[in-house]
Amino acid sequence: MKVLIVGSGGREHALAWALARSGRLSELHAAPGNPGIAALATCHPARADDPASLVPLAHELRVDLVVVGPEAPLVAGLADELRHRGISVFGPGAQAAQIEGSKAFAKDVMEVAGVPTARTLAIARPPCVVKADGLAAGKGVWVCRTQEELDAGLLAAEALGQPFHVEELLEGEEVSIFALCDGVTALPLPVAQDYKRIEDNDEGANTGGMGSCSPVPRLSDSDVSELVELACTPVLRELEQRRIPFVGVLFAGLMLTADGPRVLEYNCRFGDPETQSLLPRLEGDLLEALASCAAGSVAGVSLPVSAQAAVSVVLAARDYPERGDVGTPIEGITDAEAAGALVFHAGTAVRDGRIVTNGGRILNVTALGDSLATARAAAYDAASRIDFAGMKFRRDIAHA
Ligand code: AMP
Ligand code: GLY
Repeated sequence: MKVLIVGSGGREHALAWALARSGRLSELHAAPGNPGIAALATCHPARADDPASLVPLAHELRVDLVVVGPEAPLVAGLADELRHRGISVFGPGAQAAQIEGSKAFAKDVMEVAGVPTARTLAIARPPCVVKADGLAAGKGVWVCRTQEELDAGLLAAEALGQPFHVEELLEGEEVSIFALCDGVTALPLPVAQDYKRIEDNDEGANTGGMGSCSPVPRLSDSDVSELVELACTPVLRELEQRRIPFVGVLFAGLMLTADGPRVLEYNCRFGDPETQSLLPRLEGDLLEALASCAAGSVAGVSLPVSAQAAVSVVLAARDYPERGDVGTPIEGITDAEAAGALVFHAGTAVRDGRIVTNGGRILNVTALGDSLATARAAAYDAASRIDFAGMKFRRDIAHA
């Protein structure tokens, strides 16, 4: 099969790596890709948010499947445009992607489908959470424990210029649940955890994610299946009933509260950086699973998962998340790979034949191990072999 991956981050590099392991793959293309992906695929200079370039590209390449990484092109309708041209795609159409694109839509679906979530509050009073309705690249949520935080959150939400709502503040451990969906059937993927804050001990600013691990110590495989049944299956049914079937990966961000699991949000795509620790654990054929979803026939597909654990550490630029860094040379990637780690490129470029920084989150270093502790030690050992001026990373990823 010929496959085109849309996107340019660490998640897409991990997808490229996993798809390249499939015996069914004949050609791998990426748009736009990155220097890490370029070692596995032919990269094409089409932006992920430019359907006017992507649709003709997929057509010209005669690809059998397009795999869309980021949410913005899905919410904007890229999958619909591809399907109209007869091109098979793993990713929901614009209407089903509203499960991520609109919090109001997601709340409505959850209510009708009976999925437990945070209560919407009529009156804003701390503690509470202010949430912008639309896509805000992770910057549309304000957790407010004090009146000052609430005042600031309400001001910031108004400044975004889109509708917002206020909901109860939930406490507990957060986990990321994923299911590959063909519109009707949900095939569970391993559970993962994301470390969202910039500093150790979950302190400091929110980021796109500073690391991830899979599995999560306290959740057994049957717990994970139950969480998929609770959070994903009812949504899939409801969207099917609304005649906007969800094809792609349905990602539920859950809080495990003292009163039971609650859904915080849905995403209509793979998590970043969860994917970088999730996919290396798959022993089955990811391409078969994604192509089956796109064809509406994932029932009966199985995706064996390794008993090994995976830990992925994000190496970020000095001023991330405020600012990224461009053009700083990176050393030691091959040493880290020689130590047995997978190094996924998230924000890199090639300049004068050298790999340099090009973004906020620069690299993701993933290692497998017999336990989270051994995977963590291997990931940090490999990360220590990499260096660039200003490199920063959390030291407590997967530290139970
Ligand atoms: P979201 O984009 O909805 O996942 O929110 C981003 C982050 O804000 C989540 O990962 C949580 O850490 C936090 N968050 C969102 N909603 C709530 C809530 N109701 N209670 C507590 N924390 C929340
Ligand atoms: N890691 C969270 C996300 O991808 O939204």
